[in-house]
Amino acid sequence: MSGVAGTVPVVKKNLNGIVGFHNLPNQVHRKSVKKGFHFTIMIVGESGLGKSTLINTLFNAPIAPTRDGNAAKDQQDSASKTVEINSFTSDIEENGVKLKLTVIDTPGFGDFINNTEAHKPILKSIEERYENYLDQESRVNRKNMTDNRVHACIYFIAPTGHSLKQLDVQFMKELGPKVNLIPVIAKSDVLTEAEVTGFKERILQDIKANNIQIYYPAVHENDDPETVQEIKEIISRIPFAIVGSNQTFEHPPGSKNHIRGRKYPWGLIEIDNEAHCDFVKLRQMLIRSHMEELKEHTTQILYESHRSLKLEGAGVRGKDAKTNPAKFEEEKRAHELKMAKMEQEMKAVFQQKVSEKEKKLKQSEEELYARHKEMKQQLEQQRLDLEERKKRLLGGASPARANSNTPTQQSQKGKTGLFK
Ligand code: GTP
Repeated sequence: MSGVAGTVPVVKKNLNGIVGFHNLPNQVHRKSVKKGFHFTIMIVGESGLGKSTLINTLFNAPIAPTRDGNAAKDQQDSASKTVEINSFTSDIEENGVKLKLTVIDTPGFGDFINNTEAHKPILKSIEERYENYLDQESRVNRKNMTDNRVHACIYFIAPTGHSLKQLDVQFMKELGPKVNLIPVIAKSDVLTEAEVTGFKERILQDIKANNIQIYYPAVHENDDPETVQEIKEIISRIPFAIVGSNQTFEHPPGSKNHIRGRKYPWGLIEIDNEAHCDFVKLRQMLIRSHMEELKEHTTQILYESHRSLKLEGAGVRGKDAKTNPAKFEEEKRAHELKMAKMEQEMKAVFQQKVSEKEKKLKQSEEELYARHKEMKQQLEQQRLDLEERKKRLLGGASPARANSNTPTQQSQKGKTGLFK
């Protein structure tokens, strides 16, 4: 009874020897590696800020088509009139660990004369992905659920050196509560070190002043001091001033050492050098140390808040009936539609199960009938064989009897012989 009502007291026990559950982390590790990982990343920013180049630099592979070498990208962009949502998935592997990476590109963002609505299709896409997941969760059959939720959204700020533009503020304000927002200063190689520092300060001030929610990696209670230090260093670089490039150069010239960078008449900007830009820290957070945390944060905080808002809708309904009857009616209809959809799905599953069972029954009935027919044929064959043998036995007996002499005939023969 105490277990139901109150908290259950936990008693610490010492083991008398190794029993083996210290191996649990290895079991989880093996299982995860076998299953593979999935990560969905969204890139948003005005045209030509280096979004595709950054994705390719991050994963060191030609994952996203860049303007440099992709004519199709130019054609597609000039044809579009609104912000598009294009996603592409790549399977990548590193040291036996598989990652299914989905990149969602948003061409057209900020490219129009009036950009006040630019964030809307992106917000809609993120919410639809939550809705899709919520829908799958409430299904009768929850096997093979697909998770299309966005785990991180990299927002590219143009390297103006001033402060955030209205477009940036609006997008970040609207999207911050919905997705793990990671702001970056695009093409930071066009700014001097001092300009980057000043720009970062002004961006952070704007973020605070506008109550914008961005992603900061969290420090946990049981993190070791080294991890805490790493996290603090990552946080100190936000918003990350990045440089992207997939070109490599001999460094120093003539040596066998190749590094990724951008070459200018005055020198080489090294992508993987923390003194040159924040690319390394961004990659560390996004891929090396916080990929799982970004996914967890999406599930436990962002999706959960979307989900509870939706479910609260049911609770609010009663209140709305008096204060806002139109809203009440609308929500009632939406709820009824959802229930009808669920019922239909349940019926469909039931129908499917019944027809599967019927099919199986029919199949076994047919099998039984076939066996019965086969046995009948075998028995008939046996009967015919026996009949045949019987006939042969009977038919063979008469000539034999004709040849064999009866005792009377023998004595008559004998008699005849005597009289000769
Ligand atoms: P859209 O999809 O058209 O919006 O372009 P994008 O944002 O994906 O840019 P993309 O990666 O195609 O790069 C556009 C141009 O910028 C290319 O010529 C890149 O080489 C160049 N570029 C990319 N990253 C950087 C950078 O960090 N610094 C500089 N200076 N140029 C860059």
